[in-house]
Amino acid sequence: MKSRRPWVVGVSGASGTPYAAAVLRGLLAAGESVDLVVSRASRLTLLDETGISFRDAHWREDLAAWLARGADGKPDTFDVADALDDVRYWAAGDLAAGPSSGSYPAKGMLVVPASTAAVAGVALGLSKDLLQRVASVTLKERRPLVVAVRETPLNGQTLKHMVALDEAGAVVLPASPAFYAGATHIQDLVDFVAGRVLDAAGVPHRLYRRWEGELGAALQAD
Ligand SMILES: Cc1cc2nc3c(=O)[nH]c(=O)nc-3n(C[C@H](O)[C@H](O)[C@H](O)COP(=O)(O)O)c2cc1C
Repeated sequence: MKSRRPWVVGVSGASGTPYAAAVLRGLLAAGESVDLVVSRASRLTLLDETGISFRDAHWREDLAAWLARGADGKPDTFDVADALDDVRYWAAGDLAAGPSSGSYPAKGMLVVPASTAAVAGVALGLSKDLLQRVASVTLKERRPLVVAVRETPLNGQTLKHMVALDEAGAVVLPASPAFYAGATHIQDLVDFVAGRVLDAAGVPHRLYRRWEGELGAALQAD
């Protein structure tokens, strides 16, 4: 039997729950398994941004609704039914969860979106909840950690925490969409950021049009 080596996806309470959905869809579409941690605060942003009340006891149905929703409010074409079999869910307060130990065979962790509180907690090694604990474990095990921070403007404290994360080996990836890839919908901007997260993890995808050295090429493509 093939041994399961999941990516841990940590969703914290910054604005940007569509980024998390796009990364999760991208990982599952690439055939990756996922262990999911949804912070307590992120339930507020998810409720605000999608109308979904995320419940631990009903995570499968709530996640299905989340992944089926595009950032423009329209249904996404992603087929969630089978893909959810590759997801394992851990409650944010469960500090005995599998990924809280370095011996758990995770590939690495993607924190999407990352709040400044999560950035601070991971930079300082607080491990105050499962998301922060898994991020600290990922760093100590020298596995890839991608932190898609979403805040603007940034204060000096957060900037220092971001430098600390970079020095500890994480990829600090501001959720900062670019416009050169020919975006015409909100989902295109979301997919650009999600695609850059997957790039940092080395996971193949077709979420955005890559720059090929030709000015204006995205405008000419349909
Ligand atoms: C609607 C809403 C939007 C928020 N957006 C952000 C944000 O974009 N960036 C951020 O750092 N915090 C944001 N916050 C604040 C965080 O949710 C808060 O700092 C929380 O403590 C983060 O906890 P967590 O890292 O455990 O998820 C937002 C809160 C709410 C209710």
